[in-house]
Amino acid sequence: MPKKRIFNKVKVIVVRDYHELSQLAAKIVLKKISGKNRFNLLVPTGTTPIGLYEILSQRKKSAFKNCTFFNMDEYCVKKGRKIESISPTNHNSYHYYMHENLFNRIGQVKHFFPTYENAKEPGTYDKLIKKSGGIDLCINAFGEDGHNFGFNFPGTKFDSITRLVKINDNTSRVNSKLTKMKTPEYGITTGLKTGMEAKEVILLASGKRKA
Ligand code: GLP
Repeated sequence: MPKKRIFNKVKVIVVRDYHELSQLAAKIVLKKISGKNRFNLLVPTGTTPIGLYEILSQRKKSAFKNCTFFNMDEYCVKKGRKIESISPTNHNSYHYYMHENLFNRIGQVKHFFPTYENAKEPGTYDKLIKKSGGIDLCINAFGEDGHNFGFNFPGTKFDSITRLVKINDNTSRVNSKLTKMKTPEYGITTGLKTGMEAKEVILLASGKRKA
């Protein structure tokens, strides 16, 4: 039986293991999207949501027909003096990750990624989210240093929106180890304000690394 408690107004549910975490998160997501004419999700990458995406992928494709997925982040690379979004076909990219783990498997749902191009004009991605009706549910995850809603490293302002950031050394090291690939130098990430404007946020945490 999951243990439930309220901590600083946040509902905390402690489950037995990673499998139960993924199952519970999937149950919540599927319940929320069910019967909605329109439902916008803000979604993360990393190792934590893989179990959740695996369970969602096994559902009927029709379950997601009214969903739009907004991704929290994407890597950027430096080419000479120019910075640009990483190619979506690069195996290091979050485009690749999301397509492999979810989008290709649930029937090519509507989805958006923040890009270097749209971050040049501050607020473009946030405006797109607002124009689409805002985020109904944000599935959040976090890195070992607490960075969340994408790449909002410690010290990020609470009113931050989607923008270019330099990946910090700790995250670069951790992500290279987890993915066995070299972590790109930059990222485009939604901000703390972008995430906190969601109507609801689920934060997933698993394992000793996050304790
Ligand atoms: C990356 C992503 C974040 C994610 C974090 C956690 O840095 N940009 O969106 O929350 O990884 O990853 P993991 O779940 O593998 O610890």
